Amino acid sequence: MAKNVVVIGAQWGDEGKGKIVDWLAEETAGVVRFQGGHNAGHTLVVGGKKTILRLIPSGILHEKLDCFIGSGVVVSPEALLGEIDELNAAGVKNVEGRLKIAPTCPLILPYHIALDQAREASRGKGKIGTTGRGIGPAYEDKVARRAIRVGDLLNPEKIPEKLETILAYYNVQLQHLHGAEPVKAEDVMAVIEKVAPRITPMITDVSRVLNEKNQNDEQLLFEGAQGTLLDIDYGTYPFVTSSNCLAGAASAGAGVGPQMLNYVLGIVKAYTTRVGSGPFPTELSCEIGAGLAERGHEFGSVTGRARRCGWFDAAAMKRSIQVNGISGMCITKLDVMDGIEEIKICVGYELPDGSKTDILPCGTDLVAQCKPVFESMPGWSESTFGVKEYDALPDNAKAYLKRIEEICGAPVAIVSTGPDREETIVLHHPFA
Ligand code: GDP
Ligand code: IMO
Ligand code: MG
Repeated sequence: MAKNVVVIGAQWGDEGKGKIVDWLAEETAGVVRFQGGHNAGHTLVVGGKKTILRLIPSGILHEKLDCFIGSGVVVSPEALLGEIDELNAAGVKNVEGRLKIAPTCPLILPYHIALDQAREASRGKGKIGTTGRGIGPAYEDKVARRAIRVGDLLNPEKIPEKLETILAYYNVQLQHLHGAEPVKAEDVMAVIEKVAPRITPMITDVSRVLNEKNQNDEQLLFEGAQGTLLDIDYGTYPFVTSSNCLAGAASAGAGVGPQMLNYVLGIVKAYTTRVGSGPFPTELSCEIGAGLAERGHEFGSVTGRARRCGWFDAAAMKRSIQVNGISGMCITKLDVMDGIEEIKICVGYELPDGSKTDILPCGTDLVAQCKPVFESMPGWSESTFGVKEYDALPDNAKAYLKRIEEICGAPVAIVSTGPDREETIVLHHPFA
């Protein structure tokens, strides 16, 4: 019987999802993105060669594999074609032939980007720190039932009428609320006419194909973007992204029943990082944090912004395990913890009223006031970089992983010790 796996980020994104999806993809008949857009940046390293993917599923380097973009994804056609061109130039075979896009995906067009950026500029100090890619406005249009969708590219002659209403709504805000330039209909139409001939051949009934593959006993891998604490409902709202990034979102976002999601692999860094604004209880604004950032090369793969770094937060992980139904954890970047003398793990928080909790509270105001309660463990001085066998890890590194398992209450299935596909330790294979 085919088994399908969902990979999700269990923290604030950039946990190393891309690396693990690329590694797991070998076992599958397809990789599916189900939410987010090109705000994601997923880094794959194969034989020392680095590829950064934003919108295209992280299975694309496996040259016989189909890759799917489900209805829950917001698609910037220009970003997508740019990414396809980069892969073509790098010699990846038949990208356009293997990429299948649902007609129901909302498009990201120039007015979404203009409003995202104008709003952030107006917010000043209170800004969310978005990627400025138009993600929020595109999801707003979807819910407001005014989105122009991928399937509309099949009939571009019908778009100008829809665009008239949309631009009236956007330009009022751009000009009068934000003092920004209005977006012109002819500029949007120029984009649509340019991209339509290359995008339309990739339009596919993704839901149907995925269900057929499942019936034929072919395994599927669902690739989450962002991370649980950036989820629109359960994240640190309003400092979140505009989609559900939880495992359950794979069902609606890909068009498959929840019974098709057999195993949820939560990707978890051995420490914690966050890009953009918002509360971060275990943040380290000292040289230990700077050391993690330097050894972990913690700079955003999309915007190049420095990522904030902190200790592992088991209380936040407990929330993540709960809202995703995580079957197993993949602990990444263990090697970045090499050489730290004393390691701390956040096991809970003290709240302003003096009470304690062992799980991240819901509600950002409360999260911002959480004082982490730490437990200490001795670190290790040996290098774990590139280690491929669990037994070859230093005893203190094994003890750290065991303690994470105990506190979080979920098993460690995989450990990652380097950016390369092969630098991976398997304790329990999600497809087994
Ligand atoms: P994603 O968004 O979750 O796919 O993660 P990103 O690709 O944005 O960020 C993860 C970064 O860590 C990338 O630069 C990866 O190449 C790198 N990486 C992934 N796993 C490991 C690991 O185990 N060790 C080290 N040192 N780097 C890793
Ligand atoms: P991957 O898939 C880390 C963050 C932004 C900002 C907030 C809202 O690579 O893990 P948005 O542009 O989505 O409206 O920005 O969400 N953010 C991410 N942070 N990794 C990501 O993706 C992110 N995608 C969005 O920094 O704080
Ligand atoms: Mg990333």
